[in-house]
Amino acid sequence: MGKNVILINGSPRNGGNSDAVIDLVKRQLEQNGASVEVYRVREHTVAPCVGCDNCKNDDEVCIHKDGAAELIERLYKADSVLLIAPLYYTSVPGTVKVLFDRFYARYNFKKGLKTPSPMRKAGVVFCYGGSPADVLHRAAEYVAYCFRDLGYGSFDAVLCPMCTDKTTFSRIDKYQSNVAALTDWLISGNTDNISGASFGIERDRFAEGSEPPAIAAARQSENSQPTL
Ligand SMILES: Cc1cc2nc3c(=O)[nH]c(=O)nc-3n(C[C@H](O)[C@H](O)[C@H](O)COP(=O)(O)O)c2cc1C
Repeated sequence: MGKNVILINGSPRNGGNSDAVIDLVKRQLEQNGASVEVYRVREHTVAPCVGCDNCKNDDEVCIHKDGAAELIERLYKADSVLLIAPLYYTSVPGTVKVLFDRFYARYNFKKGLKTPSPMRKAGVVFCYGGSPADVLHRAAEYVAYCFRDLGYGSFDAVLCPMCTDKTTFSRIDKYQSNVAALTDWLISGNTDNISGASFGIERDRFAEGSEPPAIAAARQSENSQPTL
């Protein structure tokens, strides 16, 4: 059976580099028998997480009943996800950050956090101007961290710098071949990523239904504090 892949277009502008990346990736995935959903963040109004913690009760879910809640449920079950986005002030555009904050509705070990599976793959394609490599690595780590909470245990990134006008991506063959390789990897059985880069998500794997080690450690040290 074909893989189920969700493409998130995080660019606020129409007809730019991210749109060109999406066209390429979607075509390639469909040619390989995948079923593809494209979610354009700019076409949705996503209510921001207000930290009410309603989603942390046993039977409760997110108080917001917009399309993002359904997208997050689909993301929770898909085989692969790819974010295609510009870099805005060293990170994802604010609209994408608002969407990712909503993943918190799934951050609930009482309801069973998924153990991140290396077979569920996530990635990012960043089109950007001139920010240095360390900035891009941090931005990619952030994206990997968010998808990891939805159970994606493998991650890779493709960087397309010097995208100074809307057509840069479409003019540079190397960018297109890098994106094509990432797309193949997303639906392949190979869990080693192509870039060989580490995005930090391997550091704190946790077992299904249990707390992530970092949270358990924080809770322990909190309990050992003297109370006033
Ligand atoms: C609000 C804003 C902030 C930006 N911040 C950065 C940045 O921090 N680093 C960078 O390299 N490029 C930055 N850029 C350039 C965009 O990342 C670049 O133009 C990108 O190719 C746009 O992608 P798109 O064509 O898919 O919309 C910024 C652009 C805008 C509009």
